[in-house]
Amino acid sequence: MPDGVNMAEAVQAPSTGQRIFGWLKDHMDLMFRIARTLVPILVVRFQGRTWALVTRYDDVEEVLTRPNVFDVTYAPKIAAIMDGDNIFLGMKDEERFTRDKTNMRMTAPRGEAVARVAPETARLTAEVLDRARPAGRVDLAMELTQDVTTRLFGAYFGIPGRSVKAFSDEARGLFGFMFADLFNDPARRTAVEPLAASMRAQVEATIAARKLARGQHDDILERCLQFQDLGLPGFSDREIRNNMIGLIVGALPQPPMVIPQLFDVLLDRPRELAEAQAAALGDDDALVARYVFEASRFYPLTPGLFRNCVTPYRVAAGTWRAKTIPAGAFVMAATRSAMFDGRKLPDARAFRIDRPADAYMHFGHGMHECFGVYMNRVMIPEICKAVLKLPKLRRAAGPAGKLRLDDEFDLFAMNLTVEFG
Ligand code: HEM
Repeated sequence: MPDGVNMAEAVQAPSTGQRIFGWLKDHMDLMFRIARTLVPILVVRFQGRTWALVTRYDDVEEVLTRPNVFDVTYAPKIAAIMDGDNIFLGMKDEERFTRDKTNMRMTAPRGEAVARVAPETARLTAEVLDRARPAGRVDLAMELTQDVTTRLFGAYFGIPGRSVKAFSDEARGLFGFMFADLFNDPARRTAVEPLAASMRAQVEATIAARKLARGQHDDILERCLQFQDLGLPGFSDREIRNNMIGLIVGALPQPPMVIPQLFDVLLDRPRELAEAQAAALGDDDALVARYVFEASRFYPLTPGLFRNCVTPYRVAAGTWRAKTIPAGAFVMAATRSAMFDGRKLPDARAFRIDRPADAYMHFGHGMHECFGVYMNRVMIPEICKAVLKLPKLRRAAGPAGKLRLDDEFDLFAMNLTVEFG
C-alpha cells in the first residue's frame, strides 16, 4: 500500500446496513436454511432500494445464467481501479466480453493448469514447507498460501510485483474494495485511489520494460505482446494493463482465504482429516481434491454473488416460490446456500466425497465463472496435499491455531498456524 494510506483508519464507523449485514453474516447458515424452506426468494425494500436474496440451488443457477437480466455489479469499481475502463468481469453478455475473455484464455490455455501450474505449485509449496520443517509449524494463510500463489502467479502472469508482501497486500486492498465494499463507502474509495494508481503504474512499467526484453519469457504478458504484434483487437497496452490487473486482483487474494478456511473445517473433523491425509500420502490427487472442495463447502469463499437486476424477472416461474424481482433490485445469488440445498445435494449437511462436480459453486457459475477455475482445481488441492502429508498435523496451541481474519473487512484469512512432526 502506498505510504500515508491507512485504509482501516480512513474508513468510517459501520452504518446500519453494515451492522445488519454483520449480524446476518454471523448467523448465515441458519438464516439460509430458514429462507430455503420458507421464503426461498426474499424480496424486501430497505433504505430506498429493493434487495433480493435467492437461496435455492435451482434459483441461484437461474440468476447466474442470465447475465443480461442480472448484471454484475463491478463496473463502477473496476472503472475506479482502471482509470475509467472496464474489463470482462464488469460486462454483460456482449461482444467485448466474449472477445476479452477469449483473448485472455488464449494467453493461458486450459491445459497449462495441469502441465505448468500444478508442478510449479508443488515446487513452491515444498520450498516453504522445507523452510518451516525445523520449527515444525507453518501458517497456512500468509506464510504458505500467500507466498506460494503470489510467486506462482507473479511468474505466470509476467508481473512479479515489488515483493511478495507488497504485491499481495496491494492486490488484497483492491479486492476488498471491489468485492467487500458492498455499501460503497466513499472513504474507502478515496483511500483506494492511490493504491489503484500505484498498481496501474507498476503494471505499465512492467509492460514497458518487457517491450525492451522481448522473447526472453514464456508467460501471459509475453503472449499478450505477441498478440499485440499480430494486431489482434483487445491487446493495446492499456487493454493488456487492465486485464493483467484483473488477473492479479482475482488470483492473489483468494487462495490464501480458501485454503485456511477449508483447513479450519478439516482440522475439526478428525475422521475426514485422517482420510484426506491417507489420500495425500497415496498421492491420489483426485481423492484429495474431493476432500478439499467438500471441506470448502462448509466454509466457502463467499456467501454469494451479487447482481443488479436490470429488467423485471420472475425467478422460479410456475412454482409456489416464484417471485418477480423488479428492475433496480440488488440481488444476492447465495451460492453458499445453494451448496446446502437438500433438493439438489442428497444428505446436504453431511460431509460426503461422492458429490458430482456441479454440486459446487466455489468458482461461480455461468458466464462469469472464474477465469482461473482450471488452475484452482489443481493448485488448491496441490497445496493442501503437501500440508496433509505433514506428520501429526494439528492446530498450533493458543490463538495461532485459530483462524484469524483481517481487522478491516473481517474477511481475509491472515493466520492459521498448524504444527506437525
Ligand atoms: C481460490 C481461488 C479463487 C476463487 C475462490 C475464485 C472465485 C471466483 C468467483 C466466485 C468468480 C465469479 C464472480 C462473479 O460471478 O461475480 C470469479 C471470477 C473471476 N476470477 Fe476467480 N477465483 C479464484 C482464483 C482466480 C485466479 C487464480 C484467477 C486468475 C488466474 C482468477 C480470475 C478471475 C477472473 C478474471 C474472473 C472474472 C471472470 C468473468 O467475469 O468471466 N480467479 N472467481
